[in-house]
Amino acid sequence: MNAEPVIEIVDINKSFGDNHVLRDFTMNLYKGENLVVLGKSGSGKSVLIKCIIGLLTPDSGSIKVFGEDISEYDRRELDRMRVKVGFLFQSNALYDSMTVRENLEFPLRRHHIKGKQDAEEVEVMVMEALGNVGLEHTVDMMPAELSGGMRKRIALARTLILRPEIILYDEPTTGLDPITGREISELIVEVQKKYNASSIIISHDINCISITSNRVVMLIDGRCYAEGTYQELSGSEDPKVREFFK
Ligand SMILES: Nc1ncnc2c1ncn2[C@@H]1O[C@H](COP(=O)(O)OP(=O)(O)OP(=O)(O)O)[C@@H](O)[C@H]1O
Ligand SMILES: [Mg+2]
Repeated sequence: MNAEPVIEIVDINKSFGDNHVLRDFTMNLYKGENLVVLGKSGSGKSVLIKCIIGLLTPDSGSIKVFGEDISEYDRRELDRMRVKVGFLFQSNALYDSMTVRENLEFPLRRHHIKGKQDAEEVEVMVMEALGNVGLEHTVDMMPAELSGGMRKRIALARTLILRPEIILYDEPTTGLDPITGREISELIVEVQKKYNASSIIISHDINCISITSNRVVMLIDGRCYAEGTYQELSGSEDPKVREFFK
């Protein structure tokens, strides 16, 4: 991969008390790639993503996003970074008391991208974002009226509405049936192509990994244990690697 790195993580450590979760973890994300981070439950995948968007601070090491060290960011700079770096929560994090439309408008207001006077433009952006995930007809529905797969799509539409250059997906297919999981995986690939987005996809769903990944990094014992394409890793002789591909 010759593209430029958009995220550079060097030797980060993160502990919670005695629990040393990330240990000199190093990894780059290159422009335009879909990078899967694979690891067991509790291995620190969500912690890693939270460090990247500044929700958690590593104890040591450095994280650069678009060449800038985020540890030096103040609140406003972190906020600005979160427009360029979209995050799809493992839990979706939709607002249950808001309609789909209000959920999608929220990030535009929150980041002061559109004010009240831009109502028409906001409507166009909301409908385009819903169109990306094939759910225009749900615009006036409440999250509770949607299936799990639909909620995941709405959460993705809400992430895409800010046109992020980097997207971080935390377990995008967990809890979905295999067919819906496949649809979400295919959507991730469409988003990559349409927006030339660079993405980190946290997953242990082998189907999702095989569909979405250009490259896979394995997080074991807090470190980047192995790295390669899906093909390379799934054919590995290393028992620790093989375990994931059974
Ligand atoms: N805010 C926190 N305070 C204390 N411990 C935490 C915190 N966040 C995560 N941990 C611990 O860090 C470890 C890694 O958690 P993390 O959520 O990153 O796992 P994961 O790899 O995302 O797992 P899963 O696949 O189940 O989502 C766990 O032992 C967890 O208990
Ligand atoms: Mg997690």
